[in-house]
Amino acid sequence: MVNITDITPPRSRSASASTTSSDVALPSFESLAPPRPPTTKAEEETRVVVEGLGSDVRLKVDAGPGCGGIAWPAGEVLSRYIAYRHGIDPSHLRNKKILELGSGTGLVGIVAGMLEPSSEVWVTDQSMLLDLMEVNAELNFPASQTKRNVHTAELNWGEELPDSIPIKDLDMILAADCVYFEPAFPLLVKTLCDLAPIGKDIEILFCWKKRRKADKRFFAMLKKHFNQFTVEDDKPGAKEVYGREGVSLSRLVRKK
Ligand SMILES: C[S@@+](CC[C@H](N)C(=O)[O-])C[C@H]1O[C@@H](n2cnc3c(N)ncnc32)[C@H](O)[C@@H]1O
Repeated sequence: MVNITDITPPRSRSASASTTSSDVALPSFESLAPPRPPTTKAEEETRVVVEGLGSDVRLKVDAGPGCGGIAWPAGEVLSRYIAYRHGIDPSHLRNKKILELGSGTGLVGIVAGMLEPSSEVWVTDQSMLLDLMEVNAELNFPASQTKRNVHTAELNWGEELPDSIPIKDLDMILAADCVYFEPAFPLLVKTLCDLAPIGKDIEILFCWKKRRKADKRFFAMLKKHFNQFTVEDDKPGAKEVYGREGVSLSRLVRKK
């Protein structure tokens, strides 16, 4: 039995296994969290309040396609941080090309796109999450809007990067709650290296929740290629609040 204290996010219910790019079964929620009554129905719509956004984020959650089908705490922390920072200095997102890894519901990328219409955002995940990300992107951008600035794409960590995304032009990578499954650790590090080759000027915001001792192995692998800096310019008091829940937010910089 895996020894962790809390992995169940606010809107979760138990779910079936997911897969990585190598078709290795991801652990079910049951193996990660103590059983508890479901809090959502499949394909339930919820709303996430992010201070600084003109409207709530409408989010379909569906545990069917795997753990990414619900919103996780680190995703909400990262969403709130980019919104807070955008309120102070919109240039961080203005005209930026942004990619989110392991986006799940699409929450963080959708927030980035809603905050700054001049940005172009790609929310990415494994194929089984594509429909949910697409539904959520549609929900949050009026049908009358001629050009949606949030796009969806399949991106399997460790594999070739998709041609549909202008990888060389990316300015920012977002990743929330992507450290939880050991076989995927080297795959995620490889993708981060591919997206941020040595010498490229790109901001990487990486938010995660401490769960298991094994997670340290991910950070040991990451350290070979990236320096990690704790984000210090979040809203005053925010770090202390999410820190108490084991959530951390870092900026990654590729080593020369
Ligand atoms: C815990 S969920 C976090 C989802 C979302 N970022 C959030 O914070 O709510 C982890 C996400 O990583 C994705 N993931 C896991 N292994 C992956 C892989 N090999 N390639 C791409 N995405 C993967 C899952 O599909 C899932 O959406």
